This record gives sequence, C-alpha cells and structure tokens, in this order.
Amino acid sequence: SFEVALARSCLTLKVPAGKTILEVMREAGIDMPSSCEQGACGTCLATVIEGEPDHQDVFLSASERASGTKIMTCVSRSKSARLVLDI
Ligand code: FES
Repeated sequence: SFEVALARSCLTLKVPAGKTILEVMREAGIDMPSSCEQGACGTCLATVIEGEPDHQDVFLSASERASGTKIMTCVSRSKSARLVLDI
C-alpha cells in the first residue's frame, strides 16, 4: 500500500493493494472524471507534485512517463511510500 496526499483537497488517503487511486479518491468524496478505467483514454489524468509514479497505463508518452509529473489514477500506482497529487 501507499499514501496519496491530495494537496488542494488537504486530504491524505491510504491506497491498499486491491484498490486504485481513483477508487480511493471517490470513496473520500473527490469527484474525479474517468472513462475507460483501463489506463487508455487519458480522462483520469492527475498532476504529480511529489513522489514517484508506478505507471501502469498505455496513455502517457515515454517522455511524460519519464518526467514523473503525470499519472493515470485508474490504473497507476506509486513506487514511493507517498505520492502528492495536485487535486
Ligand atoms: Fe481512462 Fe483512466 S479512465 S485512462
């Protein structure tokens, strides 16, 4: 598991093994748009402020992936213990 801190919402959420960042955010009442929920469409994109994303999507380009500044919240996870998102 890892922690996701939502900077603008002033919330820190725990993301357990069986749940996605998107699911955990929705359970906390964050209204996050999504569509495919398979990492392909780009709808659930979030900006990463801090931490290292573990990219599981097929949407981001190689350079976006390498920059570590964007994450698809429906499938991707975190390599660091904490991820801070601009949400
Ligand atoms: Fe389509 Fe996340 S909802 S990439």
